[in-house]
Amino acid sequence: MKDIPIAFIGGGNMARCLIGGLLANGGDADHIWVAEPDAGQCELLRGRFGVHTGANNREIAAKGQIIILAVKPQILHLVAEELAEDMQQRQPLIVSIAAGVREPDLRRWLGYEAAIVRTMPNTPALVGSGATALFANLWVSDDQRQLAESIMRSVGLTVWVDSERMLDAVTALSGSGPAYFFLLMEALEKTGVRLGLAPETARLLTLQTAFGAAKMALESPENAAILRERVTSPGGTTERAISVFQDEQLDRLIARSLAASLAIMETPSLLTEQLDALVDKALDAAHHRSQELGNLLGGQP
Ligand SMILES: NC(=O)c1ccc[n+]([C@@H]2O[C@H](COP(=O)([O-])OP(=O)(O)OC[C@H]3O[C@@H](n4cnc5c(N)ncnc54)[C@H](OP(=O)(O)O)[C@@H]3O)[C@@H](O)[C@H]2O)c1
Repeated sequence: MKDIPIAFIGGGNMARCLIGGLLANGGDADHIWVAEPDAGQCELLRGRFGVHTGANNREIAAKGQIIILAVKPQILHLVAEELAEDMQQRQPLIVSIAAGVREPDLRRWLGYEAAIVRTMPNTPALVGSGATALFANLWVSDDQRQLAESIMRSVGLTVWVDSERMLDAVTALSGSGPAYFFLLMEALEKTGVRLGLAPETARLLTLQTAFGAAKMALESPENAAILRERVTSPGGTTERAISVFQDEQLDRLIARSLAASLAIMETPSLLTEQLDALVDKALDAAHHRSQELGNLLGGQP
């Protein structure tokens, strides 16, 4: 892997984070080329990573045994058509990270039976904690699968799907997923402030709770339902809040939001308002129970 030349087409956010991940995992900057039209961005890439850069896509692509297509989806067809002739002659592994562009379309633009791995990373890749699903077409060899996987693993977890259609489900779940957790964080923070916490305190407690819960779930052999049951003591504060979430059918709200994402609709602001109201109500129930328990326990001799 270390010695295999990689050419990035597009040197923006995702390319930067993949390059950072590759170098942190023993990659050699001398084997990385980046095609990027913006001269300032090229300078930044050279200064920060020591990689080779250039503005000419064909010249840069010619250096790579693996070509990573890291441009915006809207211009991918132009870039693919520009590279098609060279790719047809050299037949390198093509890895696309462009959201939403299907493998048969990319193969059609390239004009041959190209070995293509289509990936769907998510934004936490920018901090090395991404979740990426990969799909390989019929022309990708086992060795090429491993190469594509090790590139994407340098910025987080990887999973393979064996049908390209599953990438739409991946997009709805982990692609858009960070925003769902941000939404819940926003709602928790807002309610924390309404209950009297200082904004910075509410923010820190929310973030560390989200981080701690995710870490616990990742490190535990148990599923989320069991972990939730374990932290929900009968008659306690958590039980009160959870019963509000369940009574008001949080899972249905999430299912509706995911369906909206799959249909590529804007998540209706109504759903956001409903979630805010639900979090408010649930935390109020837990807050009230905490006061009740304090009174009860304090009343003991
Ligand atoms: N960011 C994410 O979290 C994320 C998650 C999943 C998937 N993706 C996918 O990753 C891809 C890249 O996203 P990004 O966030 O890295 O976007 P980005 O920061 O805009 O990077 C794209 C880069 O491509 C450059 N570019 C524009 N036209 C070009 C051309 N003709 N040839 C070569 N390079 C060209 C852009 O330069 P200029 O700025 O000068 O135009 C920019 O530096 C997208 O397809 C996106 O769907 C991103």
